[in-house]
Amino acid sequence: MAETLYLSATNKAGKYQELLPQLEALVTGEPDLTANLANITAGLREAFGFFWVGFYLVKNDQLVLGPFQGPIACTRIALGKGVCGTAWAEKRTQLVPDVDAFPGHIACSSASKSEIVVPVFDKTGAVAMVLDVDSDQLADFDLIDLQYLEQLAQIIQKHCL
Ligand code: SME
Repeated sequence: MAETLYLSATNKAGKYQELLPQLEALVTGEPDLTANLANITAGLREAFGFFWVGFYLVKNDQLVLGPFQGPIACTRIALGKGVCGTAWAEKRTQLVPDVDAFPGHIACSSASKSEIVVPVFDKTGAVAMVLDVDSDQLADFDLIDLQYLEQLAQIIQKHCL
């Protein structure tokens, strides 16, 4: 497909409904994981203007920073640490309206106020990576983000892992 996103919806759910099939088409048939994750972060940033969006990949006993868009971030996160390490340990999405109220939150940027972290499972059901999205506004993510970002995680599992 052409490397241009077409986004006309003005509401959040509509934007996700336009974006996800385009991202799926973009990664289908491309075997390089880094290239695919890089394009997914760029697409999410282009569609929503997220403050920070990126992947942390499970490598041995740590999460290691992967493709992202936004300010520089911490490189490694241990199992169970921070929002990302908790999503990995609990194998479920973490929706955090106020990062200061999340015990152990890792502040890569003091501007980050709310966050959603979605695990991406491999075909055996193990967590392969997490998708982390940060906002500089409080309570910026809701169940719409959760629903569609989990759909995106399934697209990644199907085409990229
Ligand atoms: N806040 C995350 C760390 C990653 S950065 O936000 C990019 C956490 O608590 O796991």
